[in-house]
Amino acid sequence: MLFKLLTVFFALCVAKSALFEDLDEPEGVEESVLLEQVDEPKSFSIISTSQRPSEFQYLENRVERLEFHLEIRAALSAINDSLKYLERTKHEIINEVDTKLKSFDENLRDFLREIKQEIVNETQQSLADTELKMKTQLETTKMEIVAKTKKLEGSDEIETIKKQLISLNDKIATYMEKQKDEYVPADCTEVQERVNVSGIYRIRPKSETFSVWCDMTTRGGGWVYVINRFDGSQNFFLNWTDYKQGFGNLSGEHWLGLEHLHQLTSNKPTELLFELVDWDSKKVHALYSNFKVASESDYYKITSIGNYTGTVGDSFNYHLNQGFSTVDHGNPPNKNDCPNFRSGAWWYDDCYHVHLTGSYIKNPTASSNFKSAIKWQSFHDFNYSLKEARMMIRQRKN
Ligand SMILES: *[C@@H]1O[C@H](CO)[C@@H](O)[C@H](O)[C@H]1NC(C)=O
Ligand SMILES: *[C@@H]1O[C@H](CO)[C@@H](O)[C@H](O)[C@H]1NC(C)=O
Ligand SMILES: *[C@@H]1O[C@H](CO)[C@@H](O)[C@H](O)[C@H]1NC(C)=O
Ligand SMILES: *[C@@H]1O[C@H](CO)[C@@H](O)[C@H](O)[C@H]1NC(C)=O
Ligand SMILES: *[C@@H]1O[C@H](CO)[C@@H](O)[C@H](O)[C@H]1NC(C)=O
Ligand SMILES: *[C@@H]1O[C@H](CO)[C@@H](O)[C@H](O)[C@H]1NC(C)=O
Ligand SMILES: *[C@@H]1O[C@H](CO)[C@@H](O)[C@H](O)[C@H]1NC(C)=O
Repeated sequence: MLFKLLTVFFALCVAKSALFEDLDEPEGVEESVLLEQVDEPKSFSIISTSQRPSEFQYLENRVERLEFHLEIRAALSAINDSLKYLERTKHEIINEVDTKLKSFDENLRDFLREIKQEIVNETQQSLADTELKMKTQLETTKMEIVAKTKKLEGSDEIETIKKQLISLNDKIATYMEKQKDEYVPADCTEVQERVNVSGIYRIRPKSETFSVWCDMTTRGGGWVYVINRFDGSQNFFLNWTDYKQGFGNLSGEHWLGLEHLHQLTSNKPTELLFELVDWDSKKVHALYSNFKVASESDYYKITSIGNYTGTVGDSFNYHLNQGFSTVDHGNPPNKNDCPNFRSGAWWYDDCYHVHLTGSYIKNPTASSNFKSAIKWQSFHDFNYSLKEARMMIRQRKN
């Protein structure tokens, strides 16, 4: 029995070193440079938001992920070898497991390829998704192996595999724990310093991490979208929970969420930009210099908007000091029943001069349902529904 265990152990060592060699060599410069850089391990520490990581730290972070996945791969290969050893006696069962491992192995290869792409791209979103996908795959494979090997209870080889699986599991848990402390940009301005391309990004203005649409082209870029309307694909007549948390399709029509809006505007001085387009494709804007939204206990009241500049007129000023109302909750509670009457949700007073959550109406001058529409009073007055409307915020530069 001791001899058997030694054989397994030896096989593991060989497999592991072979694996690293294999990765070091034929795939070329990119990978070996990366692996060299981690020869001198640097501790992985929480990076405060005030201290931005250099490009190098950022890369290091990626390298750490790569290393981790190599470790998983080595461990899986070791399990694979142990299984091969068992093959002699438990031929049928093991064959089945090995097929699973092989397909998992292919997934891993794809994953490593994606990781390399990500290192080049330095975006975060799809990396996080891939990790999640991979973790799920690993769980599934693991469960399958455990199920198959239950039938072989009691043999030493199985015990070895079990231990390997447990240690693999621990590694994954530790890794996932570490990733929580990973650097995440606070807002789209910080994203822009690394990736100046519009898209969906994870940000963390305070403790919570969430995904937003970053606009990197409008007026210098770095904007987080609060609301985006342009095709009527999303229903905006929704309740308090929906408006608090945010809803919709981040690359299409959506609402950021009042809680996120509060977190983003209470951290740093924030600019607010409205961009409006009518059905003759005339585009206008309104820029406010100091936008602030209170917390839920104050109904996400607008406590400041700062100074107006723009080409459309200062209609939004009407909503300063108003709390937010939805059909089921709000401040003032159901004053004039605005949410119901207007089929929307907004910082209503009696009821609005600006209304971007109304129904999307494709015939702009049909008077039938203008009580609920997308409006800006100083742009086509109230008898018109706009074609496009966007509201976005960014950290003020000084
Ligand atoms: C598992 O073993 C098979 C051969 O039995 C091999 O083709 C495959 O690459 C191995 N997988 C790992 C992860 O080492
Ligand atoms: C970077 O990401 C974009 C969008 O996800 C993708 O189209 C592009 O191929 C990527 N580039 C590289 C070099 O990975
Ligand atoms: C990002 O790109 C836009 C043009 O698409 C440009 O106006 C802006 O200055 C760039 N910002 C940074 C920080 O590179
Ligand atoms: C709000 O609407 C969502 C669906 O959009 C629903 O799941 C939820 O129960 C509603 N909450 C309340 C308080 O009505
Ligand atoms: C999200 O919106 C974009 C742009 O309108 C669209 O291409 C995409 O299909 C939408 N995705 C979903 C899941 O609805
Ligand atoms: C608004 O404009 C006034 C006068 O130009 C200026 O004193 C003030 O600082 C500005 N406020 C903000 C928040 O930009
Ligand atoms: C807008 O509609 C109201 C009634 O809905 C009407 O009284 C008013 O004259 C209309 N204004 C314009 C400019 O068409």
